[in-house]
Amino acid sequence: MKNVFKSQLSLLRQKKRLSQEALAQKLYVSRQSVSKWEHGEAEPDIDKLIALAEILAVDLDFLLSGQQSNDDLIMQVQKISKKFKKTVLKDINLSVYGRDRIALLGANGSGKTTIVNTIVGLVKPDNGQVKRFFNPSADLSVMPQKNVLIESLKVREHVTLSTQIQRQYSPTFVTEMIKKFNLNEQSQVIISQLSGGQRRRLALLISLLKPAKLLILDEPTVGMDLESIDFFWHYLDHVGGSVITITHDFNQIDHYFTRVVLLKDGVIAKDESVAAIHANNQTIEQWYRVNNQAVG
Ligand SMILES: Nc1ncnc2c1ncn2[C@@H]1O[C@H](COP(=O)(O)OP(=O)(O)O)[C@@H](O)[C@H]1O
Ligand SMILES: [Mg+2]
Repeated sequence: MKNVFKSQLSLLRQKKRLSQEALAQKLYVSRQSVSKWEHGEAEPDIDKLIALAEILAVDLDFLLSGQQSNDDLIMQVQKISKKFKKTVLKDINLSVYGRDRIALLGANGSGKTTIVNTIVGLVKPDNGQVKRFFNPSADLSVMPQKNVLIESLKVREHVTLSTQIQRQYSPTFVTEMIKKFNLNEQSQVIISQLSGGQRRRLALLISLLKPAKLLILDEPTVGMDLESIDFFWHYLDHVGGSVITITHDFNQIDHYFTRVVLLKDGVIAKDESVAAIHANNQTIEQWYRVNNQAVG
């Protein structure tokens, strides 16, 4: 637990762009104390811990364990199983909390998209249930693995239509979003003529039109150019609510996620906090390679 604390502390401190010195001043301790905490050589008293959680704007639980507290549970997947020709999902349990940033990992064909489709309601599980503690029509946004775009529309027409459906429409908002996602030059281009990367950016734009409690992204960066990928990950960092992303961008998982969930042989083989993995001196890629290979 304390191992997690030390890496959480340095991660959260850097996210807040505070130097050890600056944080120390706010807590009325020496910089050396902060440095010792981050190296696991000493632990702060409870009053300092509480002050730390306040300064870093996180729950104490999250600071200590890297996991969110139970109060803001937003969704629960309970004992889900699904068979197509073969059994894909055997017994899936997954709880999602407010502000979770979950990377859902697993080999091709392991059932990641099927889990997501079950959460969204596109796939009906054979057994088990999904409990959503929010309004799916208002608070759920999805970027599917396959783009669902109306090919015959122009980019601006599509964004206009999507904002109208989601009750977010204003001409300035449409213009802003198109600019932000670097589709200005394609604004009057018919969607069937866009490049793969442009289509992916448009699909992403559409999934981010409304603030959602839960945002699900299924391999969002596949087919994007490097510049769009950078833009995407920075954008994601500023999205409120919880995020579940299926991705193989391992370098990014280290920076943007709080939890990794590994799907293997039809079950959740691992569900760990990124902070705990880092505290163990592993990158997510190393962790994935070890755990996805292990038998069982
Ligand atoms: N609608 C479907 N009908 C039949 N088989 C399906 C269907 N959807 C997925 N599958 C099968 O289920 C398995 C898991 O698929 P999927 O969830 O897409 O995996 P992943 O997203 O992890 O690559 C694959 O073997 C796939 O062929
Ligand atoms: Mg998939």
